[in-house]
Amino acid sequence: MEDVSFEKIIWSVAGGKGGTGKSIITANLGIGLSIMGFRVILIDGDLGGPNLHNYLNIKKPKHTLNDFISNKISNLNEIILDTPLENLKIISGGTELLGVANLPYMKKEKILRHINNLDADIIIMDLGSGTSYNTLDFFNLSNKGIIISNPEPNAKYDAYYFLKNAIFRKISKNLKKDSDVKNIMNKFLKDNMSVIEISKFMNYLKSESKISSEIVENFLYSYKPKLIMNKIRKKNQILEGDWFVNIVKNFLIIDMDYVGYMKFDNRVVYSSEKIVPFIFKYPECAPTKNIFQIIDKLRSYNSKQLRKPFEYFKKEIKKYSKYWSM
Ligand SMILES: Nc1ncnc2c1ncn2[C@@H]1O[C@H](COP(=O)(O)OP(=O)(O)O)[C@@H](O)[C@H]1O
Ligand SMILES: [Mg+2]
Repeated sequence: MEDVSFEKIIWSVAGGKGGTGKSIITANLGIGLSIMGFRVILIDGDLGGPNLHNYLNIKKPKHTLNDFISNKISNLNEIILDTPLENLKIISGGTELLGVANLPYMKKEKILRHINNLDADIIIMDLGSGTSYNTLDFFNLSNKGIIISNPEPNAKYDAYYFLKNAIFRKISKNLKKDSDVKNIMNKFLKDNMSVIEISKFMNYLKSESKISSEIVENFLYSYKPKLIMNKIRKKNQILEGDWFVNIVKNFLIIDMDYVGYMKFDNRVVYSSEKIVPFIFKYPECAPTKNIFQIIDKLRSYNSKQLRKPFEYFKKEIKKYSKYWSM
């Protein structure tokens, strides 16, 4: 296999609202990246309702992340499961474990440390819906977050709300030692319980402490999560992603990178009912091309691998689809 020089990256996938397509996109992105030559590990970080393994047709996972969380297994490598594709592995999520709903922060840091040591080119962590501390922290602790939203107003609202909470959480965790910022932030949040704009907090911080505001500004500058718009039904809905990026820039003062969209297609629903990845079942459907376009964009950030055309991708899909019973 050709040498694909790649800096190890950990992407975490969140979105706020349930059902936006986080798990199905994680699974198909993972498959797509692995057939393009990358060694991929997918992790089900949805501790409340893990279902990533379903999208990969793994019926009863032998080991799950719970075995590691509960210290039953001390090495994360031991709970990695094979999939029908050699380059693609998965760490499955376990069913509800008492006390898992709010893991101690140090435990989450430990999980991320172990994830960082896994032997893979790309690690993608699928996260649950909502804004629990677990989800916010896993999102913030990975090197890059990917937000998956839909054009419908509720989905965009939840995605915005998720990002706002993630940023406040990141500020409070990262700058804990900087007690100035922490005190100013606590005072601000006490008086502005329902604030939905980071820009308001930044104005306040600037007026209280210029140095602290510069520290936070620098951090916000490097935050840069990515955005994928899913379930696009009309062409003009593609622009909803640009609109969202603008809103986030103005009110949360962070740059988002709109890395692509995926069209709505009933064949995606049908293939998930059949427990077959849609890129294998329907290589000709628009979402398969969309997955390729997203991979092409994501790849360009970290890889020295040469660009490949869509025709190559489809050829690889055909080659590997024999490993799946459809
Ligand atoms: N582009 C799409 N077109 C049609 N259905 C989709 C699309 N993306 C996701 N779905 C469907 O939406 C449902 C939720 O997807 P899922 O990935 O499980 O969401 P999440 O993990 O965000 O809760 C699934 O039934 C899936 O088949
Ligand atoms: Mg999911």
